[in-house]
Amino acid sequence: MVYSQQHRSISILMLPWLTHGHISPFLELAKKLTHKRNNLHFYICSTPVNLTSIKPKLSGKYSHCIEFVELHLPHDELPELPPHYHTTNGLPPHLMSTLKKAFNMSSSNFSDILQTLKPDLLIYDFLQPWAPSLALSHNIPAVEFCTINAATIISIFANHFMNSSLEFPFPGIHLRDYEIRMFKNQSGKKIVPVGPLVQDPLDQKTDEESPIIQWLNKREKSSVVYVSFGSEYFLSKKEIEEIAHKLDLSKGWAPQAKILQHPGVGGFVSHCGWSSVLESIKFGVPIIAMPMQLDQPVNAILVEEVGVGVEAKRAEGGGLQREAIAEAIGDVVVKEIGEGVRMKALEVSDNMKKIEDEEINDVLEQLVQLCA
Ligand SMILES: *[C@@H]1O[C@H](CO)[C@@H](O)[C@H](O)[C@H]1NC(C)=O
Ligand SMILES: *[C@@H]1O[C@H](CO)[C@@H](O)[C@H](O)[C@H]1NC(C)=O
Ligand SMILES: *[C@@H]1O[C@H](CO)[C@@H](O)[C@H](O)[C@H]1NC(C)=O
Ligand SMILES: *[C@@H]1O[C@H](CO)[C@@H](O)[C@H](O)[C@H]1NC(C)=O
Ligand SMILES: *[C@@H]1O[C@H](CO)[C@@H](O)[C@H](O)[C@H]1NC(C)=O
Repeated sequence: MVYSQQHRSISILMLPWLTHGHISPFLELAKKLTHKRNNLHFYICSTPVNLTSIKPKLSGKYSHCIEFVELHLPHDELPELPPHYHTTNGLPPHLMSTLKKAFNMSSSNFSDILQTLKPDLLIYDFLQPWAPSLALSHNIPAVEFCTINAATIISIFANHFMNSSLEFPFPGIHLRDYEIRMFKNQSGKKIVPVGPLVQDPLDQKTDEESPIIQWLNKREKSSVVYVSFGSEYFLSKKEIEEIAHKLDLSKGWAPQAKILQHPGVGGFVSHCGWSSVLESIKFGVPIIAMPMQLDQPVNAILVEEVGVGVEAKRAEGGGLQREAIAEAIGDVVVKEIGEGVRMKALEVSDNMKKIEDEEINDVLEQLVQLCA
C-alpha cells in the first residue's frame, strides 16, 4: 500500500499572473519538482498568447510531465483588450487595469478548468483572490507562490501591517510607497522558501551556433557587459540615449541564462527584476543595478547590501545619467575597486548552489503532504 501511495500520480495546476517575471519562476518550480519526483504532473494555465511563446521554448524532456492549459479571457465584453494583449508583455500601460479586470472576469472559465482537471493542488499567484476560493469550493487545497523575494515581503509586511519602526531586514532596505495590499493577512500562513528558480542554461533551446553565443565565444574572459531591462519595461528615447551611449542595442528575447553563464560576460546592467537578479547571482556575474519600477528599487538596495553589485545613481530628479552608468560599469567590471564585488558575486553564487537542492526538497515534501 505504501508503494501505491508513493507512486500515485499527483497533479498540480498552476496559475501565474500573465507576466514573464511570474510565469517563468512558476515554470522553473514545476521543472525542479519534476526532477525530484516522477509521479508529478503539472498543468500550467495561462492565456493562449503567452502559451504560444512558452511552448516552443520548453525542452521536449518535460512533455510528459508539464502540460499547458489555455485560459480564455473575455473579449466581447472588453473589446479594447484583443487576445494579443492578454499578457503584460507589450501591453500599453493604460490597459494594465483592463487586463487585471479581464483576468478577474475569467474566474468562471477558470472554475470550469478546475472542474475538468480536478487537480490535487492549485498553486496560484497574487492578484487572484478568487482562485483559492474557487479551489476550496472544489475541495482542492491551494498554495500561494510569491515570486518576489523575502526581504521585500518582510519589509513591506513589517512597515505596513505591524507599524514597526524597525528597519527590516537591513537598515538599507526600507519601504517605498507602492500600493501593495497583498500581504495583508499572510501572518497566519506557513511560509516555505523555494530557493532560486533560475532556468538551467541547458534547457534554453538555442543552438550553440546562435550568433550571440558565437560572438561571445570570441571575447576574452569577463570582457563583456550584458544589458537587459527585462521583458516589461520600455525605455524612453531619453533613457535609451543615456544608457546606449556607446552600446549596441538589440531587440527581442535573449537566452539570458546562457549569456550570463558564458565566461565572456563580466557584468550585468540590469533593471533588477527579481528573476534577473537571481540569474546573475547564480552565475556569479556582478550587477550594475538600474531599477525602474515595482519591487526593483528594493531589489537594487538588496544587491548593494549583499555586496554583489552597485547601483548606478540617478540625478536629483530621478533621471538616468550616462556618466554615473559608465562609472558604475567601470567600477564593477574593470577597476580594482570592484574586486570585492566580483569576489562576492562568486561567493554568493557558491552558497546559493549549496542550498537550492535542500530547499526544493522541503517544498516538495510540504506540497505532497497537502495532497495526501
Ligand atoms: C507571454 O509570456 C511569455 C513567457 O513569460 C513571454 O516570453 C512572451 O513574450 C509573452 N508573450 C507575448 C506575446 O507577449
Ligand atoms: C470564457 O472562454 C470563452 C472561450 O472559451 C470566451 O469566449 C469567453 O469570453 C470567456 N468568458 C469569460 C467571462 O472570460
Ligand atoms: C474582481 O471580481 C470580484 C468579484 O468576483 C470583485 O468583487 C472585485 O472588485 C473584482 N476586482 C477587480 C480588480 O476587478
Ligand atoms: C504607528 O506608530 C506610530 C508611532 O509609534 C503611532 O503614532 C501611530 O498611531 C501608529 N499607527 C497605527 C495605525 O497604529
Ligand atoms: C485576517 O486574518 C484574521 C486572523 O486570521 C481574520 O480574523 C480576518 O478576518 C482576516 N481579514 C481579512 C480581510 O481576511
